[in-house]
Amino acid sequence: MTIYSDKVLKRTHNCGELRLADVGSAVRLCGWVRSYRDHGGVVFVDLRDREGITQVVFGVPDDDSEAAQQQYKLARALRHEWVISIGGEVGPRGEERNNPKLATGEIEVLCNELVLLNRSDAVPFEPDEYHTTSEENRLKYRYLDLRRPEMTKALRLRHQICRVMRNTLDEHDFVEVETPFLTRSTPEGARDFLVPSRMQFDSFYALPQSPQLFKQILMVGGLDRYYQVVRCFRDEDLRADRQPEFTQLDVELSFCSEQDVMDITNQVLRNICELCDKPFPADVPVIDYDESMRRFGTDRPDLRFGMELVDISDLASQTEFGVFNGALGSGGVVQCVVIPGGAVMTRKETDGLANWSKEFGAKGLANTKVAAGKTLETGVAKFLTPIAEELIERTGANEGDLICFGADTKKIVQRVLGELRSKMARERDLVPPGEFKWVWVVDFPLVEYNEDMKRLDVLHHPFTSPNMDDWETKQDTPTEMKSRAYDIVCNGMEMGGGSIRIHQPELQRKVFDLLDIGKEEAEEKFGFLLNALRYGAPPHGGIALGLDRVVMTMIGAHSIRDVIAFPKTQRGSCPLTNAPAAVDEQQLTDLDLKILTPPAEKQ
Ligand code: AMO
Ligand code: AMP
Repeated sequence: MTIYSDKVLKRTHNCGELRLADVGSAVRLCGWVRSYRDHGGVVFVDLRDREGITQVVFGVPDDDSEAAQQQYKLARALRHEWVISIGGEVGPRGEERNNPKLATGEIEVLCNELVLLNRSDAVPFEPDEYHTTSEENRLKYRYLDLRRPEMTKALRLRHQICRVMRNTLDEHDFVEVETPFLTRSTPEGARDFLVPSRMQFDSFYALPQSPQLFKQILMVGGLDRYYQVVRCFRDEDLRADRQPEFTQLDVELSFCSEQDVMDITNQVLRNICELCDKPFPADVPVIDYDESMRRFGTDRPDLRFGMELVDISDLASQTEFGVFNGALGSGGVVQCVVIPGGAVMTRKETDGLANWSKEFGAKGLANTKVAAGKTLETGVAKFLTPIAEELIERTGANEGDLICFGADTKKIVQRVLGELRSKMARERDLVPPGEFKWVWVVDFPLVEYNEDMKRLDVLHHPFTSPNMDDWETKQDTPTEMKSRAYDIVCNGMEMGGGSIRIHQPELQRKVFDLLDIGKEEAEEKFGFLLNALRYGAPPHGGIALGLDRVVMTMIGAHSIRDVIAFPKTQRGSCPLTNAPAAVDEQQLTDLDLKILTPPAEKQ
């Protein structure tokens, strides 16, 4: 392998830097051949590094020396993604040849020394042509994909955002502490990734779903203010904003109220927004869970557009429409959402919506159009005659709008109309571009009834403090109890969530009882936390922000995979390394493990 001199390796400038003012300077650039064009003997190469692109020109040599001829031959042989070092002089391109799309578009470098540092095989796709290949292929050849400026920009912004997070918390006396990855199950509602232990061959570690219990124990240990930029692992179904391993900014404080946690989080987010040149409100609006569900049908409200849910149960009962009366008769509700301009939708499209609504448990999605003179037409219009005027007034619907109705249990109606609201806003371009709407959602219920399992489930995690007034007065109706949890939401995406914790072991035990976590089970799973709470736990609380989601929002990325260097696919695999993969028989033997079903039979 060649050892290159400093002259060859030490760049004077990067590929995004040179301007007209540099004309005449001798420079050295290193980078990748992004493209090459041979114009009648003169070779033009776009040279790329992480900072940008510079045009390099290799002219036909005017002397016959062997060296000059060799260099020229090499220049003509250059291909995509070869790595070169060039020395040369900066020249102006001249007005006709300027490229206003490039920051360096007014200059070019006339090369007088070319060193080939490495060749590249023919690439499966050129970084700039990434959209011509599948995402699977982009992830397989991630190093090529990472060479495109959008990816480099995303990773650098991610780094800067992390730095802002750390700096802000450092300024407020937080201490970054690392917590173990090889640990026990932490309940955040997903499945655990398990790691078999060789030394205790019948036992398993679990990768943490979050450092929840450790950060609480750090508070008992007197750390007072902790944070960690930390990887979390959750084996759950993946979506556009979910990965099986993702990064949290995890924060915990002692002697704090909800407001303290919200204030420090706002400060972190404000500084991030300042870095990214995005607005952040002086006062972030706060709405409670019930209001969020009532108006938006979700606890992650997107406040960038209207289309709020309107309850029309009282009006619906005045109609003869079986669907409405059936739902009301069994204790349900009738609500609607107005889709501005939605009257242009075809019958096929509205039928499609009704079908889609079934994914969310709805039985259908009745609709009607608002026609000229604010009369109702098509769909279920004929049933609505007695209430048409009031319906239009209450919903504020206008000519050209589509009204969609949900009739079912409150839970299903809110779910489907909430989803409909986001879907329509997205698909019908009703989201004003460039807007950022942050909101805190507070006063979550402590528990909800799980119909399938016939038990109470926590909404956050079982260490969240109940609202103490509710705890005293609503023991007989636990689903009416609120908790001291809060979420921060931006543009309809949950950016972070946290709570004030239970710091007294008696209350923690009682909450476990409410959740039907028996004494033995609690002892087995969380005994170490219960123990710690017995030895002087201070009142404490905290939050975790999803770093990947924050970066996604700042960049406007549609997929979480665009802000992670080496993400997993929707199926949880890594095409670059082919993880997860089978292991050697010997490794299984060492762990006393056996694969029961051969892979072929599992399909
Ligand atoms: P929670 O489970 O709400 O809280 O997670 C906090 C934040 O982490 C992000 N997040 C994810 N990001 C990408 N992929 C995932 N699979 C994923 N899951 C969660 C979200 C979410 O808001 N221990 C508590 C925090 C606390 O109570 O302090 C916790 O983990 O942005
Ligand atoms: P049907 O009486 O089943 O033919 O339904 C008449 C209309 O009401 C259709 O547009 C259905 O999509 C719609 N629909 C049926 N059930 C519901 C429901 N529970 N909520 C809202 N719309 C419904």
